[in-house]
Amino acid sequence: MLAVSGHHVVPFGHYVTCFLGGAKKRRTSRFLVRELTRSWAEPTLQMFGQLARFAAMKAMVIKEWGGPERFELAELPKPTPAAGEVLVRVRAASVNPVDYKIRQNGGWSKVPMPAILGYDAAGTVEAVGANVTHLAPGDDVFYSARIFDRRGTYAEYHVEDASIVAKKPSCLDFEAAAALPLAAITAHDSIIGFFQTKPGDTVLVQAGAGGVGCYAVQLAKAAGARVLTTGRRENTDFIRSLGADEVIDYRATRFEDEVLRLTQGRGVDAAFDTVGGDTVVRSIGCVRPYGKLATIVNVAGDVSSMAFRNQTLYCGFMERTAQKIQTLALLASRGQLRPVVDSVFPLERIADAHRRIESGGMKGKIVISVA
Ligand SMILES: NC(=O)c1ccc[n+]([C@@H]2O[C@H](COP(=O)([O-])OP(=O)(O)OC[C@H]3O[C@@H](n4cnc5c(N)ncnc54)[C@H](OP(=O)(O)O)[C@@H]3O)[C@@H](O)[C@H]2O)c1
Repeated sequence: MLAVSGHHVVPFGHYVTCFLGGAKKRRTSRFLVRELTRSWAEPTLQMFGQLARFAAMKAMVIKEWGGPERFELAELPKPTPAAGEVLVRVRAASVNPVDYKIRQNGGWSKVPMPAILGYDAAGTVEAVGANVTHLAPGDDVFYSARIFDRRGTYAEYHVEDASIVAKKPSCLDFEAAAALPLAAITAHDSIIGFFQTKPGDTVLVQAGAGGVGCYAVQLAKAAGARVLTTGRRENTDFIRSLGADEVIDYRATRFEDEVLRLTQGRGVDAAFDTVGGDTVVRSIGCVRPYGKLATIVNVAGDVSSMAFRNQTLYCGFMERTAQKIQTLALLASRGQLRPVVDSVFPLERIADAHRRIESGGMKGKIVISVA
């Protein structure tokens, strides 16, 4: 009988015989066991080690909530797709404010420790679970992940419910595609979903250079609206390049006064708040009666005066659907929605990417490349 191990061919039956009776034979057997370990077991263990590495993946994780310095590189088991899921080899992710909010103190997010953050991904399907019919291994895809009680996309591999994963338009590379999902779906929910923006409308978008704002400006413009937006003065040309008709320097003027001036006192048809605090309350007087307001952040103050103006306030929480991600793909392939990439950081420098988004002044999205 021959046992084949790496380059070694071992007469296996010989060892078995040597365990039978006598001190000399026992010494011989110990020698042969050592030999066996060296010649057969070690290469076998090495082989298993290599297999184990094949099933592992690189990820940037945090083990405790806190600052960006909490991120560390880790090797974790590569996930496997369950029925209805896809396993994606992530090529690019992006950073959203919710990522640093979770990183700072994210117990509410139920992300399991060690936590992998990251809500956006673009990559290639590596495997599909049972009942997945619209995607196959080799497809390039993009999506916004659900990470509540699950793991995110700051990793080489990620599994996601196939129903919210769409094929990536071929006109976008992975980094551009990863800059879209969460922020652009959020913008779509308000500009198209709540406001149903149409030609002739005037829409105010807060923070036209922000991750959500840069897509809201484009979508409102594509829908035919006149777009007023806020931003810091040094970003004016950039925000105009997205399609904004007017950029209000929010640090130099009161946006509500500027909006009334730019609309000859009439007010806008709809105002989209991506900033929070007292922004909604301050917007009430510069939205026309029967107009609409939407916010995706906290609202501070008293909104009861909206009733006297017959206005509607939508409080939005971004909702992922296959249809929405496919709409983004369509708009991007028609050139009606351009991914806006402020900067690209390699996965290992995710801490610097978080420092960048937390310090403000960006033009669009921060993207993470995953080699
Ligand atoms: N509810 C949801 O489903 C949902 C979904 C997505 C995002 N969000 C939330 O929405 C917010 C915005 O997200 P994001 O991705 O757009 O963030 P972001 O990329 O960090 O952009 C924030 C923008 O706000 C601008 N800004 C700050 N203070 C301002 C002010 N007083 N007036 C006008 N603009 C101001 C910043 O401009 P400068 O830095 O240039 O000054 C920056 O462009 C975050 O709080 C995020 O968590 C909620």
